[in-house]
Amino acid sequence: MKINSAEFIISNSVVSKCPQEPLPEYAFIGRSNVGKSSLINMLTNHKNLAKTSGRPGKTQLINHFKINQNWFLVDLPGYGYARVSKSTKATFQKFITDYFEKRTQLVCAFVLIDVRLEAQKIDLEFINYLGENGIPFCLVFTKMDKITRVKAESNVAAYRKKLLAENWEEMPPYFITSSETKVGREELLTYIESINET
Ligand code: GTP
Ligand code: MG
Repeated sequence: MKINSAEFIISNSVVSKCPQEPLPEYAFIGRSNVGKSSLINMLTNHKNLAKTSGRPGKTQLINHFKINQNWFLVDLPGYGYARVSKSTKATFQKFITDYFEKRTQLVCAFVLIDVRLEAQKIDLEFINYLGENGIPFCLVFTKMDKITRVKAESNVAAYRKKLLAENWEEMPPYFITSSETKVGREELLTYIESINET
């Protein structure tokens, strides 16, 4: 898909104040610093559309970006600050769970995973949370440029095994990406385009 326009629309912390236009939207979620904002810039071919930082915790609000005038990309804050919690839900900031539970325009969540790391408990918890709430999602492995393709493939295979061990029947759709080299860009955009067309 060709990106003809990408514009920042609004930031906020209240789901009810998000744009009301009934356009399909796709949200990026994952641990702080995994590369959510960088991926939005990479997909849209903009350097600073979404604000990025080497330090975790940069994105603090729900940010809507309108793409090609007819769908939204949503940049969310990272999760993973609350280290220990009694319930899975409390582990994730309230407005993140509000967003996923109330935002009827959401078509698909992209859960970002650092391709270099073994499966992290908090990511598995979040994936299970999405599953329990019936929210469609894909996995996006990030920072592919930091390791070899062979190593990345073997880490993804290990991830798949882990999900099956967590009682998932199959690996969800996934993408291996790098915001540095733009690997995975076409695949992700084609996937979004195919959903937008149905
Ligand atoms: P929060 O907003 O804090 O939750 O973080 P985020 O997930 O939005 O991460 P962000 O895009 O701000 O990137 C965090 C750091 O990782 C920055 O220093 C980026 O330059 C770096 N980074 C992101 N994606 C990639 C990638 O694909 N390759 C490499 N090498 N670095 C990346
Ligand atoms: Mg961010």
